[in-house]
Amino acid sequence: MFAAEVYQQRRSQLLAGAQPGLLLFIGNVDAPMNYLHNPYPFVQDSTFRYLFGLNDPGLAGVIDTRSGKATLFGDDVDVDDIVWTGPLPTLAERAARAGVSQTRPYAALEEVLREALLNGVAVHYLTPYRAETVLELARLLGRTADAVKRGASQPLARGIVALREIKGPEEVAEIERALEVTREMHIAAMKAARPGAVEYQAVGAMEGIMRSRDWQLAYPSIFSRRGEVLHNHRHDQVLQAGDLVVNDTGASADTGYASDITRTIPVGGKFSERQRALYETVLAMQLEAIAAMRPGVKYFDVHKLSARTMVARMLPLGFFKGTVEQVVESGAYAIAFPHGLGHQIGLDVHDMENLGENLVGYDEHQQRSELFGLGYLRMGKALKTGMVITVEPGIYFIPELIDAWRREGKFADLIDYDKFDEYRDFGGIRIEDNVLVTDSGSRVLGAPIPKTVAEVEAVMAA
Ligand code: GLY
Ligand code: MN
Ligand code: MN
Repeated sequence: MFAAEVYQQRRSQLLAGAQPGLLLFIGNVDAPMNYLHNPYPFVQDSTFRYLFGLNDPGLAGVIDTRSGKATLFGDDVDVDDIVWTGPLPTLAERAARAGVSQTRPYAALEEVLREALLNGVAVHYLTPYRAETVLELARLLGRTADAVKRGASQPLARGIVALREIKGPEEVAEIERALEVTREMHIAAMKAARPGAVEYQAVGAMEGIMRSRDWQLAYPSIFSRRGEVLHNHRHDQVLQAGDLVVNDTGASADTGYASDITRTIPVGGKFSERQRALYETVLAMQLEAIAAMRPGVKYFDVHKLSARTMVARMLPLGFFKGTVEQVVESGAYAIAFPHGLGHQIGLDVHDMENLGENLVGYDEHQQRSELFGLGYLRMGKALKTGMVITVEPGIYFIPELIDAWRREGKFADLIDYDKFDEYRDFGGIRIEDNVLVTDSGSRVLGAPIPKTVAEVEAVMAA
């Protein structure tokens, strides 16, 4: 946890722009794997953790805009609980660590909310994303689940996004702490990705590093020789010399801050000539995007810059026809780069997307595109100092997509389908880093993780 003042300051900043009433934040509860007392690793609701710091289940926070006071609702453990879970600091002690001086038993929350509603005081809450929270809000507010979902406050969500999307130095330091471990994991994976190994053996070596610190993953690892399957969570294939493995893996620090890194590994230790040409294209897409990032630049335009870099390099290789502008503006380029350039990252790997992807990534100055590929871009709006964004271009050969577009005659004047066919067993390449927007430009967070052809080959040879 940070110092209590950090949470006090966050809550007062939220209050400054809040609509009058009670601001209600329900923390997460344990989620059972198969029965109640066999839970998944606990993950706190990120907005609750952002405002109240505490990483225990069964808590709720209320901020009253009239008094400016925050109250933490929860229960002290009794001796029956202690037998199973061990002692915990009292609720008042825990609240003090978050700078909250007022606590109430959890059971009092219902009465406080009912009384507010009876007196015409509005209760503002965020759209719940877990069924347990939907049911709890329904119980507390005396509404149906549908009414709960409809009744979430958009102004409150916008206020939270405005706060959470600008990372303070203490948050950037935590993302960098997560990246230190993620860096170690990626280097271990490069060394473990030997011909004959099964993917899960390399994954085990890599994830063990995070587990040995009692940390969690920020998302399920993607580690696959079938890198063209964008979110491939299977790890059951035997690695063969000549494969490219896409490794998209990131640890979360114990403070909850995420990291999200992708490297592409040549099994056998050396990139082939044809792999190297496209790997260096993806690297150029990424480096040029990072160099273009600064406050005021729309990430939508950075995505398109990255697409232009790709097409300018793939045209002479024979993949596309026409001009760079035609291939990019038509959306034809997305046959090879069908996802967005990146997203915000913080306490969540896709930060705040539970509040709505468009609310986080778009605004009145930038609407989401309807084109295939560009339409998957999660972050399109202008960059601001203090944002942390992933930059993750890629090139993929997805046989089913190539076949479907060829059959439809899609972009037949812009795409050389015979050339794409020659690469249908190529797999994919993605390179991803986490980048802070600074006053004057941008900074790749964390110590460098081997990324150039020479750096990756050197680690694998060691
Ligand atoms: N790790 C998922 C992503 O890069 O968005
Ligand atoms: Mn990723
Ligand atoms: Mn990502």
